[in-house]
Amino acid sequence: MTGPERSIRIRAWRDGDAGRIVEAAGGLSTQSLFGRFGVGTASLPRAYIQMIEQHSADDRVLIVVALDGEQVIGWAESWPDATGDVELAVVIVDAWQRRGVGAGLVRFLLGEAAAGERRVNAYVLGENSAAHRLVRAVVADRLEASRSDQYVHYSLAA
Ligand SMILES: CC(C)(COP(=O)(O)OP(=O)(O)OC[C@H]1O[C@@H](n2cnc3c(N)ncnc32)[C@H](O)[C@@H]1OP(=O)(O)O)[C@@H](O)C(=O)NCCC(=O)NCCS
Repeated sequence: MTGPERSIRIRAWRDGDAGRIVEAAGGLSTQSLFGRFGVGTASLPRAYIQMIEQHSADDRVLIVVALDGEQVIGWAESWPDATGDVELAVVIVDAWQRRGVGAGLVRFLLGEAAAGERRVNAYVLGENSAAHRLVRAVVADRLEASRSDQYVHYSLAA
């Protein structure tokens, strides 16, 4: 697997990124939004934007963004859950999918999460072949997978 193109930068969240991801969301198809949020929606859910705005400065929340110039083209997050583990999610705008950006973001995020020595979980819809392939491409060797309802639960020791 190759990394993202050289013009792409990946960095940790900064003030002002909430506006950048709202702009970036204009480049997400309903299929991509469904893959990320598991619900049919034509735009970023309002509750999600509020959650990002309220918690992006929380040390336990990691958010990393990929940029082409000053434009966000994808982002990945890990949020603490009730058990002390973290849950990972990622989304790339449609025009930038299949160009190594998702894998680059997840690798960067896992590097940061490893510092906390927590187990990382991801819940992927069974039909979401792009996300299954991404998970396996990045961390196949350290992965446990189990299936429940329509989701596959991946769990990774940090
Ligand atoms: C899943 C997603 C993040 C992948 O990001 P991406 O930048 O396109 O992925 P990459 O280019 O880094 O590719 C990573 C691996 O997945 C594979 N892949 C990516 N898209 C694929 C697709 N549509 N079908 C099959 N394989 C795919 C790549 O070939 C690569 O595998 P390889 O190294 O074995 O060749 C992107 O499709 C997306 O944003 N989907 C909508 C949101 C979502 O479903 N998020 C996941 C749940 S939180």
